[in-house]
Amino acid sequence: MIEICNLTRKFGSFEAVSNLSLTVLPGELFCFLGPNGAGKTTTIKILTGLLRPTSGTTRICGLDMQIDPIAVKKLIGYIPDMPFLYERLTATEFFQFTADLYEVPQNKVPLLCDESFRLFGLLDCRNVLIKELSHGMRQRLIYASTFLHNPQVLFIDEPLVGLDPYSIRLIKDLLMEKARAGMTIFLTTHILAVAEDIADRIGIISKGKLIAMGTLKELLALNNECKNLEDIFLHLTENDN
Ligand SMILES: Nc1ncnc2c1ncn2[C@@H]1O[C@H](COP(=O)(O)OP(=O)(O)O)[C@@H](O)[C@H]1O
Ligand SMILES: [Mg+2]
Repeated sequence: MIEICNLTRKFGSFEAVSNLSLTVLPGELFCFLGPNGAGKTTTIKILTGLLRPTSGTTRICGLDMQIDPIAVKKLIGYIPDMPFLYERLTATEFFQFTADLYEVPQNKVPLLCDESFRLFGLLDCRNVLIKELSHGMRQRLIYASTFLHNPQVLFIDEPLVGLDPYSIRLIKDLLMEKARAGMTIFLTTHILAVAEDIADRIGIISKGKLIAMGTLKELLALNNECKNLEDIFLHLTENDN
């Protein structure tokens, strides 16, 4: 579903992503881990068409982002690490705006909005301006809007930063449910316990290079002195800091 092949991205002479290759299968929940500055966000920005690679290719559902950007963007959802919201729209207006962007038929939007706002606990904020929403409520609105066009592949950069335990549980359960229903999910997180809980497979990137890839079981088997993902992560990236 996601194919990254020999991907390199330079900023000047600095290589933020170095010859990265990996694939993510349909319905897989893939966690991309790495220390700050390892190249996770750069990789996601290339996969979602916000940055061009210096070299290498990325494909989503077999389509090359450089060749078919619009077709790819229709298939994906993307939640960036610092999402941008229009502060002077209400929650409902933002949802409607997103529906228009993805060409969701007008007559379907009110029902979708109701269902989705109920699921995300947003019914009381329907007519509240975004600038007045708490961080958690904004995040919930972003999730509601991202699932609106039912993306086949979802990219999420640091989905849990600043959320309360209820919201974290809501998002974790939702992501696992979506993956079980066939959605392919590529996410980054620093919360290793979450990756341990929900990931089908884990990749670790360090200084732009992929240094580990596999299921938790496989990673534990390869690093037999480590007893959990935190040990593995700290062991493999210890020269970074
Ligand atoms: N637009 C940019 N210009 C120059 N350097 C950048 C730019 N974006 C990212 N970098 C650098 O590339 C490296 C990887 O960044 P990033 O992908 O954001 O890391 P991560 O998301 O893993 O923390 C960092 O050293 C960062 O400073
Ligand atoms: Mg980042």
